[in-house]
Amino acid sequence: MARKRVAILISGRGSNMVALIEAAKDASYPAEIAVVISNEPDAEGLAHARSAGIATAVVDHRVHGKNREAFERALQAELAVHRIDLVCLAGFMRLLTPWFVEQWNGRMLNIHPALLPAFKGLDTHARALASGAKIHGATVHFVVPEMDSGAIIAQGVVPVADGDNEATLAARVLEVEHRLYPLALKLVAEGRVRVVDGRCLIDGVPMLNSP
Ligand code: GAR
Repeated sequence: MARKRVAILISGRGSNMVALIEAAKDASYPAEIAVVISNEPDAEGLAHARSAGIATAVVDHRVHGKNREAFERALQAELAVHRIDLVCLAGFMRLLTPWFVEQWNGRMLNIHPALLPAFKGLDTHARALASGAKIHGATVHFVVPEMDSGAIIAQGVVPVADGDNEATLAARVLEVEHRLYPLALKLVAEGRVRVVDGRCLIDGVPMLNSP
């Protein structure tokens, strides 16, 4: 089966992007990274992608001012140029309109640094610590118009330690993210994930166990 052509959308550091690029270097991985697109011209991840020999593009949202639709049409054009099958949001910090999300229904993934449906939105690690939760983690899910709410493809769990601060907890979660995202993309690219009544049903053994 042909490898799925993937676009990774980033806004910053791009460490999850690097994890996906690394996974896709394996010829048996069912997806190839066709392009990395950033809405931030100075995103650190762009340089990493270029040095890995991957095509990059910048679609700067500022150019379009408050016109989100124009920004997304530019994004959509870039995805079409690269004949993209699947989109992976990896630290992409723009909200997308229902129109754009609908174009990629069932074909756009996001990674979120919490065990959804807990801690949607920003500052997830600080809120997990403040809540007193003993476990925390990361989720890869399909993107739907409502933020951080789509069907869950895979989750990875970490313990919260008594001495944790935001930085130590974030670092522990990030390690899991880097294993989780390649696994989730693999499942989707292999066509093993079906969404039924808002839940992902997965053919085979999908779960990433806690480390
Ligand atoms: C990651 O922790 C990702 O889960 C999070 O941003 C970080 C990006 O890091 N995403 C969100 O908070 C989305 N709302 P990276 O650029 O090194 O992959």
